[in-house]
Amino acid sequence: MARADKLLVFTSGGDAPGMNSAIRSVVRTALHNELEVFACHDGYQGLINRALFAMRSSDVSGCIQLGGTILRSGRSEGFKERKTQQKAADFLRSRDIDYIVAIGGDGTFRGAKIIEELSGIKTIGIPATIDNDVVGTEYTIGFDTARNSAISALDKIRDTSASSGLNFLVEVMGRRAGFLALDVGISAGAEYILVPEYPEDLKKIASEIMNPLRPKRSIIIVVSEAQKAGRSFEIADKLRKLTPGRDYRVCVLGHVQRGGVPTTLDRLMASIMGNMAVVSLLKGHSKVMVAYQHGSYTLAPFPDIKTPARTLERKDLLELNKILAK
Ligand code: F6P
Repeated sequence: MARADKLLVFTSGGDAPGMNSAIRSVVRTALHNELEVFACHDGYQGLINRALFAMRSSDVSGCIQLGGTILRSGRSEGFKERKTQQKAADFLRSRDIDYIVAIGGDGTFRGAKIIEELSGIKTIGIPATIDNDVVGTEYTIGFDTARNSAISALDKIRDTSASSGLNFLVEVMGRRAGFLALDVGISAGAEYILVPEYPEDLKKIASEIMNPLRPKRSIIIVVSEAQKAGRSFEIADKLRKLTPGRDYRVCVLGHVQRGGVPTTLDRLMASIMGNMAVVSLLKGHSKVMVAYQHGSYTLAPFPDIKTPARTLERKDLLELNKILAK
């Protein structure tokens, strides 16, 4: 009797809410298509550790509403070496893996592409990172939950800011792109939004803050962490110097944005993308990721090693915020 084809699923890179919904969808779609399903813990580290385990339908029961990833995740330094990559590829071939679904960001997809090149195993990606910065897709799983976590923090900060008159810099995640900062800033009614793509002139902001005709008692500035988590402390210092007599409190939201119960949007998109990943592999597609473009689900090539992250191209929305925050 012919053996069933084998599919491996794992999550890698920074964890993102909704990854569990994607895992559940991959596992159940694969089982529905009579594949044998395996997983490993800790992303590429799990391959280095040669620790695969079988996944049954019951293994993904009750995980759709959980934040984080039941398969755990991580950024494996070891996997960057060619020797280690080759060993992982050989190991997967020795275990007769036919298909791989890698859930994560562009680092994850670079790894998946290498595995396919070294082993011939068909790989496909599902984009998941709270940063929403993967080239080729307009949405990555986890972004909406992170936006909502940040908004709920900002609403609380506004309560105290309005009551106390304190000014705030609230730093949101986004290593290379300002997507979170933009959406959260507009939706929370922030007075300023600082993103790496469109640097703002702090002197101009300071002169607006010092304008005696300014109607507002306090301001909230949403700052994208950019390459330097905690950079809002430096910005606060600069503003203190430029606006004598004013003080600023800093609130770095940090990893709070990475956890929590995934929103409906993240669960839904993850469920659809997980299904599409498996169906696409079975149709013969590989070295691609499931993507969301112009309101539709599609397939897009894995980002090239040299391709920079997707960045914000919405100066118009930053301008809109200037009008709304007056
Ligand atoms: O996963 C994306 C992200 O959360 C970025 O927003 C952030 O810059 C980075 O990961 C933090 O990485 P780590 O959890 O490894 O400190």
